[in-house]
Amino acid sequence: MQTKTSHSLKPFISFTVFIALLVFTACKNEPKEEIVEQKVTAPVYGLIVDKAMVVSARAEASKIGKDILAKGGNAFDAMIATEMALAVAYPYAGNLGGGGFMVYRTQYGEIGSLDYREKAPIAAFKDMYLDEEGNVISALSKVGSLAVGVPGTIAGIFAVHEKMGSMPMEELLQPVIELAQKGYVVTQKQQGRFDAYAAVFDTVNGQKTLYSQGFKAGDTVKNIALAATLRAIQQNGRSEFYGGKTGIQLVDFLKKHDGIITIEDLEAYEAQWREPVVFDYKDLRIISMAPPSSGGVCLAQILKMIEPYDIKGYGHNSTKAIQVITEAERRAYADRSFYLGDPDFVKIPIDTLISEAYLNGRMDNFSFDLATKSSDLSHGEIPGYESSETTHYSIVDSFGNAIAVTTTLNGAFGSKLYSEELGFFLNNEMDDFSAKPGVPNMFGLLGAEANAVEPQKRMLSSMTPTLVEKDGEFWMSVGTPGGSTIITSVLQTILNVYEHEMTMQDAVNAPRFHHQWLPDMIMFEPNVFDSTVLENLKNFGYNVNQENSPVIGKVDGILVLPDGRLEGGADRRGDDTADGY
Ligand code: GLY
Repeated sequence: MQTKTSHSLKPFISFTVFIALLVFTACKNEPKEEIVEQKVTAPVYGLIVDKAMVVSARAEASKIGKDILAKGGNAFDAMIATEMALAVAYPYAGNLGGGGFMVYRTQYGEIGSLDYREKAPIAAFKDMYLDEEGNVISALSKVGSLAVGVPGTIAGIFAVHEKMGSMPMEELLQPVIELAQKGYVVTQKQQGRFDAYAAVFDTVNGQKTLYSQGFKAGDTVKNIALAATLRAIQQNGRSEFYGGKTGIQLVDFLKKHDGIITIEDLEAYEAQWREPVVFDYKDLRIISMAPPSSGGVCLAQILKMIEPYDIKGYGHNSTKAIQVITEAERRAYADRSFYLGDPDFVKIPIDTLISEAYLNGRMDNFSFDLATKSSDLSHGEIPGYESSETTHYSIVDSFGNAIAVTTTLNGAFGSKLYSEELGFFLNNEMDDFSAKPGVPNMFGLLGAEANAVEPQKRMLSSMTPTLVEKDGEFWMSVGTPGGSTIITSVLQTILNVYEHEMTMQDAVNAPRFHHQWLPDMIMFEPNVFDSTVLENLKNFGYNVNQENSPVIGKVDGILVLPDGRLEGGADRRGDDTADGY
C-alpha cells in the first residue's frame, strides 16, 4: 500500500514557509518582479521499502508483481505478471491487444530494451486514411477495426520470459488468471472512464459489451472470457495468440468488423531487442527508449539543450525555467516530426540529433526576451541526411535489476473494439502514424515521410520508459502515459528530483507544463501555476493554455534513497499505487 508520508525518515512537523524570489531579468520586456511565492512544505515521501518495489496504475497489479518478487522472482518475472494484471484491472490502457516498450538495467549493469510495439498490417498502405479528395478521414485511424495495429504485448512478455525470466510462465500467469476470475473492484476514477465511453463502446461494437454495462465504484468486475484467454496462453504458449486458436478468433472478430489483420500478420509479428538511447546529463547517465519511440531521442535533446542553463538557480516552475525548457521542447518536437519513425524502415541520424554540437546550435536563436515562434522554426538541418492512453510501471527487485515499462492501447480503451469472446480491447495505434504530412494526429503531433503508413512498419511513439544512473549505480526508474506529453512529463520528473531535490512522490505530484512545437502553446495543468509567472510568459510572447490539459502525464517512478532503500512515487492523478517489501 502507498503511504502519504514516511514516518521512518523524519519526525513529521507540518510547516509552511513562503519565500519571495526576485527575478532579475535584464531584458526588454521587463517581467513583473517575480514574486515566485514558493510554498515550501515538508517533503512528502511515497512508500519506502528496503528491497523491492512495483509502482503501477493499479493496486492489484502492483501487488501481483510484488508477490512474484517476494517469492524470489526477478524484475522480469514481475514484469510479465504486472503487465497482464494491468490488462485485467486497468482495461483503459493495460492490454493484450496493444504493445509497449521495456528498458532494463540488470544487477550487473547491463542495459537494453525491448520493442513490442504494434505494427501496421500487411494490407496497410500510405493513404489508407484519406478520402478521394485526399483529405484525412480522422475517425478511421482512431476507432474501429482499421485503427488496429498488429498487437505486440503477448510477444513482448514471451520475449522477456525467454531471455530474462527465472520462474515458469505458468506460475507467473496464475495469479492474473485468478484476478480475472475472482474480479477486481471498480474505483471512482475508473467508473468515470466507463461512464464516459459506454455509448462509444456500444456504437463501435454494435452491441452491449462487458464494459458498457454501467459498472459503479465498488462493483466487482469478473472477466471470465479474459481468464479463459490467459489460460489458453498459459497452456499453449506464445503461438496460442500468434496463429493458434486465440489468434484465429481474433482475426475472425476483426474481419466481422471489416478489419484487415490476418493470421499472416500475427504469424509474422516479432518483438525486437534494441539498443537504448544512452546519454549524460551532468553527472547522470540516462538510459531511455530508442526509435520507434521518439521518447529517448527527444528526452536527450531537451536535457542536452537545457544543460548549460541554471535550471536549479531559476527555481522550480519559475518564468525562466519554463522559458528554457519550453524552447528546448519546441526544438526537439520539431525534429521529432521530421526525422523520427521506425528504424527498420527509415534511416535516423540519432547520434547527430543528440550530439552537443548539433544541439548547441539549435538553441542559438533562443532569447529570454521573446518567445521563438514555432512558425519561424522547423527541424534542424543535418548535413548529408536523407531524409492518452497508455500506462507505465516501474519495478526494482532485491537482486538489483531495474526496469521501466510503458504499455499502451494508444487512446483510452484503444479503438473501443472489444472482443467479448476473448475479453480484451484492441488498440488504435495506427493513429500514431502520420496519416498525411501536416495533418495532426489525436495528440496534435505532426509527422512526415519518416512516419508514413507502410505495411509491417511500426508507428512512431512518444513512450519514454527511462532508467537513470548516478555515480555508476542505478538511481531511478520513471515513465508515464500521456501521448505527446509523455516525454516532457518524464523530463520534469527527473529535473524535479535532480535539480530541485524533491522526493520521488513530490516529483511526480508537482504541477507540469508541456510544449510540443505545434500547436504553438504552453499547456499548463490548470490553476496550479503562479499567476505572475503565467503573466510574465504571456508578456514574452508565449501562448499560455490552461484549458486543454487538466492532466499532463501520470508518472510512476522508483528512486534509490541515499541509504539504499527504495522510494516509490505513485502519481496522485490516478489510482496509481506503490507496493513492495
Ligand atoms: N500511443 C502513444 C504513444 O505511443 O506515444
